Amino acid sequence: MKTYLSGIQPSGRLHLGNYFGAIRQHIALSETPGEHYYFIADYHALTTVRDPELLRELVRDVAATYLALGLDPERAVLWRQSEVPEVTEIAWMLSTVCGMGLLERAHSYKDKLAHGIKPNVGLFTYPVLMAADILAYDATHVPVGKDQVQHLEMTQDMAGYFNGQYGEVFVRPEAQLADNESMAKVPGIDGQKMSKSYGNAIWIFEEGKALKKAIQGIPTDSRAPEEPKDPKELLLFDFLALFLPEDEWNDWAARVQAGGEGAPGYGHLKQRLIAAVDETFGEARERRRELMSDPAELDRILARGAEKARVRAQATRNRALTACGLR
Ligand code: ADP
Ligand code: TRP
Repeated sequence: MKTYLSGIQPSGRLHLGNYFGAIRQHIALSETPGEHYYFIADYHALTTVRDPELLRELVRDVAATYLALGLDPERAVLWRQSEVPEVTEIAWMLSTVCGMGLLERAHSYKDKLAHGIKPNVGLFTYPVLMAADILAYDATHVPVGKDQVQHLEMTQDMAGYFNGQYGEVFVRPEAQLADNESMAKVPGIDGQKMSKSYGNAIWIFEEGKALKKAIQGIPTDSRAPEEPKDPKELLLFDFLALFLPEDEWNDWAARVQAGGEGAPGYGHLKQRLIAAVDETFGEARERRRELMSDPAELDRILARGAEKARVRAQATRNRALTACGLR
């Protein structure tokens, strides 16, 4: 049987990249046969978020986001990482078989340094905790965006080192990428990868004036609508591809490519994009508002999830302790 598992950091409000690159797959997969584990990586977020009240709020926000977008907590286990402390014990055991070189090669770490983030040890050993998250639950399939593939390879390496040394303790997981290329790497409004930390993100539940402002922020140029253009070179069309049915996207693209009288201007295309975002997330926005108005209930859902998750993590932790001679 397949065991799907993924985690998402509560390090900011979730954006369209998170939705199309991760959450949407998580929810769709949770409706297929298999076991489904989704958690809020609050220990990971602690490497960057320093405000306790904000962190508490963001954890609930991630939970409400998943639930509002359709995750059924009866079909999928949803919990917060720090409610299963066995994961940190497994992380410690893994860290003792993980070479420094492996971590020094991590792209995400190097990217963070390049963006001027001052690293702490937790940020450096982040992939070890992530490996523990995955291995603790015997996950076989880990649906993530492209940017996480290297972390999955590192997880495979760590499982391999540990098993090589101590016998078959951990199950070797695989990354499961979104099959649609445009979803695997959603651009931000500056054309770079959309990311909470790059200031280029659009929040999933943005609406009204704020949504309009965000979409207006997608850069265009001063060419007239009549001038023929290659839609593939326009960032706006990458965004439209996320929301529009293929037929409709092709139709707009053909008109832009042809230029002349019938070609839409950028403003017109942005209007269409705003309407499409409203259609896609309108109902979920309402559900999110309701969920956020009852934090105690959100905490209860997460605590129930943690109880279920913990049973599995404890079994793995015990197996690992015994294998390496600590029991
Ligand atoms: P961020 O870069 O905003 O901090 P995370 O690293 O927390 O996002 O990513 C959470 C999940 O969302 C991961 O599975 C990641 O692959 C996916 N994801 C993040 N940004 C994008 C993006 N721009 N396009 C596609 N998937 C993304
Ligand atoms: N590193 C992941 C991210 O930033 C979050 C994460 C933590 C995760 N632990 C995980 C994802 C385990 C998948 C499996 O997106």
